[in-house]
Amino acid sequence: MKAPAAPADPVGATPFSVQIRAASHDQHTEAENSGFMSDLLGGRLGREAYARYTEQLWFVYRALEESAHTLAGDPVAGPFVRPELFRVAEIERDLAHLRGAGWRGSVGALPATLAYTARIEECARTWPAGYVAHHYTRYLGDLSGGQIIRDAAERAWGFARKGDGVRFYVFEDVANPAAFKREYRALLDAVAADGLEKARIVEECNRAFAFNGAVFRELGAEFGPAA
Ligand code: HEM
Repeated sequence: MKAPAAPADPVGATPFSVQIRAASHDQHTEAENSGFMSDLLGGRLGREAYARYTEQLWFVYRALEESAHTLAGDPVAGPFVRPELFRVAEIERDLAHLRGAGWRGSVGALPATLAYTARIEECARTWPAGYVAHHYTRYLGDLSGGQIIRDAAERAWGFARKGDGVRFYVFEDVANPAAFKREYRALLDAVAADGLEKARIVEECNRAFAFNGAVFRELGAEFGPAA
């Protein structure tokens, strides 16, 4: 559902937000059409599959947000650290609703999730620009397609509109998501990185999409209609 890829830009005149979006276009289409996502959007999965997916998100956002505190003062990653995006508290409310108060006792990361979070943590520790790639891949996606997923989840499993179970997708503190995304893209365009570093960020974004794809594949193996 993303706009078509922009043409190649050998002289670097294209804004970085356009470059990163164009470079991840094909992987985005793949993610949208992955078996697990299609089954989820098509209402073909049980509530347990959704709960297991939400669990994986908990691990991913803990990695993103625990690092966010230390990166807040970083010249490259710092401007992207925006508390109104933080999701961990919302995911925890969703998991309490999905699994009950004792959810922490049974939560478990899939192997693909462990690899994904390890890479986020590594970027946060050693390469803040790489962290930006992971930040973009998740939060800008959540502000966009996340709303489609919320809608499907509400319909499939009867959650109250924007209520417990789907709070992860509800950004209470982002009053105008379209304006927020415009500001976010302006931050990307102003990122303090040269052309080579920007190419590395784009590559890391592709890696971030690949990690998400791997998580979907493992979830699909566990929960797809064929599983
Ligand atoms: C069924 C699943 C998905 C649907 C329906 C979906 C849908 C969308 C839509 C409608 C947009 C807005 C495009 C625009 O503003 O023109 C978007 C943007 C985006 N999505 Fe997804 N998406 C899905 C899955 C994912 C996944 C799994 C990721 C990565 C983890 C992702 C990452 C992104 C990103 C980073 C953007 C922002 C692109 C930009 O404007 O720079 N999406 N998505």
